[in-house]
Parts: sequence; C-alpha cells; structure tokens
Amino acid sequence: MNDLFGEGIILVQGHKWKAQRLAGQHAFSSNANLQSFGKRILPRHLNTLLAPFEKAIARDEELDVQEVAYDYAMVVFGELAYDSDFARTSAGFTAPFERASTVTQDRFTNPLYRLTERLLPSGRRFQRDVADVKAFGEHLVKSMSERIKAEEEGKVDVRGVESLNDAEGITTSQGLLLRELVKEHGHGDDYRFLADACLNFLTAGKDTTAQALAWTLYEILRNPAIYAELQTEIDKAPTEMQVSDLTAVEGPLQYTNAVISEALRLHPPVPLEIHENTTSAPIALADGSLVGPAEIVLWSPWAMGRSTRIWGEDAADFKPSRWFPEVQLRTADGTNITHPLKKSAFEFPVFHAGPRSCLGKNLARIELAYALVQLVKRYDMVPTWPINQDKSVGTALTAPILGGLWVRARHRRKM
Ligand code: HEM
Repeated sequence: MNDLFGEGIILVQGHKWKAQRLAGQHAFSSNANLQSFGKRILPRHLNTLLAPFEKAIARDEELDVQEVAYDYAMVVFGELAYDSDFARTSAGFTAPFERASTVTQDRFTNPLYRLTERLLPSGRRFQRDVADVKAFGEHLVKSMSERIKAEEEGKVDVRGVESLNDAEGITTSQGLLLRELVKEHGHGDDYRFLADACLNFLTAGKDTTAQALAWTLYEILRNPAIYAELQTEIDKAPTEMQVSDLTAVEGPLQYTNAVISEALRLHPPVPLEIHENTTSAPIALADGSLVGPAEIVLWSPWAMGRSTRIWGEDAADFKPSRWFPEVQLRTADGTNITHPLKKSAFEFPVFHAGPRSCLGKNLARIELAYALVQLVKRYDMVPTWPINQDKSVGTALTAPILGGLWVRARHRRKM
C-alpha cells in the first residue's frame, strides 16, 4: 500500500500519524467546518448527483446508482481534500488513481502479485499511474500552499473571493485541511508529504461513503414500504434545514437516519479489519484482554452487524425502527419494556473505535442524509434485478456492490 498511500494517515504511526490526526480533527470536526460542508460543498456539487438521473430519465435508460454515488463522493471529497473542483480539473487524476487503487487492492488477495503485476498491463502501468497521481497531488498542494502563503502575507486581494467566513458566518473550505496539516506538521513546502496526506483523506472518505449510499439505496429498493415511509418523512421535513438537523436522531429526519444506520449495520463499507500491535508493550482491548507486541487482531464489522448476540434474534432483518431513540424489547420472562438503544462503538464498529476511529464519521453521515434526501424526494426508483436475490460484496479493501446497482428512475408525480 505504501506505493500509493506513502506517509499518509492510513498507514503511518507515531508523530506523523499524530500530526495528521490532529489536522483532520481540527479540519473536519468543528461545527463551523461541518456547516461549511453541508451548506456549501454538498450543494455545490449537487448536479453531479442529479444529472445522471435526468439523463437516464430523458433517454428512458437504466442507470447504475453506485457509479453515480462514486462520482458524487469524488467531487465532494476532492474539494474537501484538495480544495479543487474535481468535476473540471481531475481528468488527469481520476483514471490513474482508480487504476492504481485497484492494483493496490488486488495485492491483498493475490499472494503472487509481484509476478502478475509484471505480466499484466494494469500491473505494468502501476508505477506510471502512481507517479501521475503524486504529480497531480503535489501540483494542487503547491498552488494551494502558495495561495495560502500569499494570503497570509496580505499579497492577494481577497475581495470577491469567498472569504474564510462568509456572510452567514460559515467557514468555507479554502484549503482547510492543508492549512491544518501545515500547522500541525510544519514544513509547508514538503509537498510530497502534504499531497500524500490529502490523498489519504480523499481515499478514506470517497469509496466508503459512496458504498454506504449505494447499500442504503439497495435496501430501500428491496423494501418498497420503507422507501414510501422515507418519502413521507422527507416530504414533511422543512426545505431549509440546519446541517445539524440532517443527522439529528430525534430531528426532522429521524427515520432517514435510522435507515442509514441500519444499512451501515448490515453493509459496513469496511467489512473486515486487521491491526497489529507494533509497539513493544501489550495493549488492552475494551474487554480487558491483552494483545502482545507483534500480535495481530482481526475482527469483522460485517459479522458483528449480523450477530444475534449483539442485535437480537431479528439481526438479519432490515428494520430501521430498531434505531429509534426508544425501542420495545421483550425480556426473557416475556414482558415488554421500552429501552433506549445504545450500542457502543465497540459493539457497532462500523467507524472503528478508540484512538484510530474514523475522522470522517460526521461528514459521512451528513453526506449520506443529504444525498438520500435529494434523491428520494425527486425520484421513484425501481430495481432492474430480482429483489429477492441478495447482492454480493465485490472484492476490494472496502465493500462495493458487485456488479453495481442498476435501477430505472422516474420523476415523482408529487414534489
Ligand atoms: C460511511 C463512510 C465511512 C466509513 C464506514 C468509515 C470507516 C472507517 C474505519 C472502519 C476506519 C478505521 C480503519 C482502520 O484503522 O483499519 C476509518 C478510518 C479513517 N477514516 Fe473513515 N469511514 C467513512 C468515511 C470517512 C470520511 C468521509 C473521511 C474523511 C473525509 C474518513 C476519514 C478517515 C480517516 C482519516 C481514517 C484514519 C484514522 C486514523 O488512522 O487515525 N472516513 N474509517
């Protein structure tokens, strides 16, 4: 993985990890930045989400909504990571990045990859693709750094440019991640390191969020009653919502968020995790058991999401109501009790738990709710595959739907 991801947060330990972790925390967790994400970045790229639907409807064609979700996540997280409009500028990046990511992922399942990469055309062009991706990233990071430096030295006229705090007091993206990285890491001209760092954030956010959206759509397509209930809630929700309302479990999109949580439970985008204790001391897990130096722990959020021990006898069912703040439970002696559903990140590790837990959890949930609302309020979708047939997970580091998610869409009569 090092070839592509270099010294970015996904792979490194120690002070390089810490600097990127702090930068990511500052860039993506503050309320102001989440506002900027929900109010500026997501709507700015809405056309990437809707245009393929409009085109398919006009031509009476099917469309692969998983592909649409990938394209939307690419432009959204491209802007977040590189402050660049990927819909216009990424032609030299997207194709080599996708090819290089595929080869990197294949290495996990192919013990003979050194040999096959020498034989297959995709393997042979891997180094060239990695070089293109790095060059593109460094170019973006360099021009962004120069702009930030000039701005800080007061050498640019920022009138007419979206300022860091716009009229509504919402912070705009404006190289947010890079500013934080330079603050934490120093070395504002170490463009290779900074570009690797940005690439890691893009990679961590892009496919996972797109796949989560695709699996959520998959579940609602197979459950027309749930699709209808979702539309009812979304129709009733105010058109102008606060970003915090998008994900509030007791807010106007309570059912929407329950649907998303349920899809994440049954189809976690990171289905399997492997971590090694690379320190020289034992590490205690949440249940108190110790992992010695050089020992490896493997767990599966996919299996845990389906465990009847954690979720009860109906674990296999897609049942959004289990996420409502209050759920009815039947105790062993047959009495019904009302009980708030509380699952710790250790029982529901879809975003991992502990010090290396996901930094983009809030961003992902905001994007998922936003995109679902935009699609479900506009379109009725009908699956073009037999809904009683389970779809399989494709082979990758994350969990795509094998073969995509093909639907036929039409405009809703009532909007
Ligand atoms: C539904 C979407 C997402 C899921 C399910 C998800 C899941 C995860 C998981 C399981 C990990 C731990 C990986 C490991 O250590 O093996 C992780 C780490 C991480 N995620 Fe996410 N993620 C999602 C979206 C995002 C987004 C949108 C971003 C940022 C824009 C992001 C940034 C990161 C970063 C930077 C890490 C590494 C944290 C560290 O090592 O300290 N993720 N994510």
